[in-house]
Amino acid sequence: MRRGSIFRISLYGLAAAGGVTLVAVLIKWLPTSASRQMDRITWVYWFATAICIGIFGVVAGVIVYSVLHFRAQPDDESDGPPIHGHTGLEVVWTLIPTALVTAIAVASAVVLSQNGRAGDNPYHVKVTAQQFAWSFQYPDDGGFRTTELVLPLRRAVRLDLSANDVIHSFWVPQFGQKQDAVPGIKTHIVVTPTRTGSFTLICTELCGLGHATMRAPVRVLPQQQFAAWVKQQKSGGGGGGSSGSATFASAGCGSCHTFEPAGSSGKVGPDLDNLAADAKTAGKPLADYVKESIVDPDAYVVSGFQKGVMPSTYGQTLTPAQIEGLVTYLTGSK
Ligand code: CUA
Repeated sequence: MRRGSIFRISLYGLAAAGGVTLVAVLIKWLPTSASRQMDRITWVYWFATAICIGIFGVVAGVIVYSVLHFRAQPDDESDGPPIHGHTGLEVVWTLIPTALVTAIAVASAVVLSQNGRAGDNPYHVKVTAQQFAWSFQYPDDGGFRTTELVLPLRRAVRLDLSANDVIHSFWVPQFGQKQDAVPGIKTHIVVTPTRTGSFTLICTELCGLGHATMRAPVRVLPQQQFAAWVKQQKSGGGGGGSSGSATFASAGCGSCHTFEPAGSSGKVGPDLDNLAADAKTAGKPLADYVKESIVDPDAYVVSGFQKGVMPSTYGQTLTPAQIEGLVTYLTGSK
C-alpha cells in the first residue's frame, strides 16, 4: 500500500473518531455520580468507550477510503481481481481485538469485585420491598424503621435486600448499581456515598399495577448530621409505632390509595376518602369493613377494581395494634 493511501485512511479515521468522541463527551449519558461504586463503573464505561472509538476510527477510515478509492466506474463491468486472504493481516485483526476484549473483561471483573466489597466496618441497613413500597431498618442503631433511606457520607453501607411478595429491584441512578430483591433469597448491594443531597430510589422490576409508583426518597447526610438524625429516630421522632398515620406511611398505603388526611394520591386502589360509602355498598359496618379490607382484601372489592391486586399479607406483616391504629386513622374523621 502506498504511503499516500495510508495517510488518507488515517485522516478519514481520525475525523470519524473525532466525531463520535464529540457524541460521547458532549451528551450527558449518565447521571452525575454520587457513590464510589458509580465512580468505578463510570471509569469502566469510559475505558470501553475509548477502545470502541479507536476501533470505530480504524474501520470507518478503511471503509471511507475504500468507497472513495475503489468505486467502479459506471461503464466498468469487469470482475475484480481474485484475492486469497492475507495471513499476516488476519493474525493482526484477531490478536488486537482479543487483547482489547480481554482488557475490558479484566477491568470489569476488578471493578465488579471492588464494588461488591463493603470493607471491615460497613454500616448495615435492611431494605424491605413489598407491593408497592420500600421500608428500611437500621440494625446497627437499635433497629428503628423508616420509609426514607438516609445514608452517611463516605461510609460503606451494606444494604441487605429482601422482598415480602414478588421480585422488586433496588436502583438509585446516581449510585450506579441495581440489585433485585427476591422473596426467599438474600441479596445485598454496597453503597459508599460521595455526595450529599436528595435522590430517588426506584423499583426497576415490573412488580404489579403499582410498580411505577414504587419509589422512596433517599438522603445522604454528612456523618455528624447523620448521627444526629439517628439519635432523633431512636428517641421516637421517626414514629413507626402503632399510630395510624405512621403505619399508613410505613406500609406504603399512599402509593396505591388516595387519602386526603395523608396527602396521598395513589390511583391503583380505591379512594380511601370514600370508605363510608363503600362500606354501605358492601353492607358492612364501617370499622369491620375497613379491617376486613386490610387483612382480607379480596373479601369485597369495590366495583371498578380487581381482586388480587392488593397484597393479602398485611394481616401477617402488621401487628394487631398497627391494624387497629390504621382502622382508627381511616375511619376516625368520618
Ligand atoms: Cu416493585 Cu416494581
